[in-house]
Amino acid sequence: MPAVRELERQVLGCDYGGTSWTTRAQADHIAQSLELRAGVHLLEIGAGSGWPGLYLGTTSGCDVALLDIPLNALKQIVARAAKDQITRQTLVLAGSGAALPIASASFDRLSHSDVLCCMPEKLAMLRECRRVATAEARMYFSVIQPTPNISPADYQRAIEFGPPFIDIPNGYEPLLQASRWRIRDQIDVTAEFRQSLKILIEGIKSNTHALQEAYGVDELASQQQRRQEQIVLIENGILQREVFVSSAI
Ligand SMILES: C[S@@+](CC[C@H](N)C(=O)[O-])C[C@H]1O[C@@H](n2cnc3c(N)ncnc32)[C@H](O)[C@@H]1O
Repeated sequence: MPAVRELERQVLGCDYGGTSWTTRAQADHIAQSLELRAGVHLLEIGAGSGWPGLYLGTTSGCDVALLDIPLNALKQIVARAAKDQITRQTLVLAGSGAALPIASASFDRLSHSDVLCCMPEKLAMLRECRRVATAEARMYFSVIQPTPNISPADYQRAIEFGPPFIDIPNGYEPLLQASRWRIRDQIDVTAEFRQSLKILIEGIKSNTHALQEAYGVDELASQQQRRQEQIVLIENGILQREVFVSSAI
């Protein structure tokens, strides 16, 4: 749908069918932090329809394995990889991040964008990431989460309007420690997240009719309301988005 792709270009700066809040600038930061280049093996978990994994393969020349569950999304990855002529660098895998269909110590780079906040088995996934990582591996991921030390009522609001499995009472640090990952960098990207939400709301307002045709009137209205609520939560210090860059221990 051209209107949907145009909105994605406005919000994220890409047109891969992205559903995380990783912008093109943040994808470039992934490449830089992980020092992606030809010869490096990147595993992208919860790859959706290829954002940002295929972009990272294209721009850096690294080999990339993209894993997700829905077959439909995996087919889109295969088609986009062919269109972008990076099929030889690309491996597409069906499976869960919590039980990776991958041999131990296979990848030296891992990334996932807003995936842990979309699945309940967070520790299992981080342990699986560590199992398939080499001894010197690095991992880059983003998550949306309730801001630490907010009231129980605010925590409930974050759960109500955030991604489906946002609940993480003690934050990600203990889970990273338990799964043998050392945090190298932890970056608050909430301001960029808020900016993307604002661009999304403006984009919907400026092309409402075409987007109603793409999503349906009720679905678009409900998405708009949810996004507006998320902006309010961010502005009230209740919801945040963070990036973790870590190394294998
Ligand atoms: C926010 S989307 C991100 C998709 C894509 N990487 C992007 O940036 O547009 C989260 C993705 O995690 C995937 N996901 C959820 N649970 C998963 C699991 N247990 N194993 C692997 N992927 C999972 C979903 O199918 C979805 O594609």
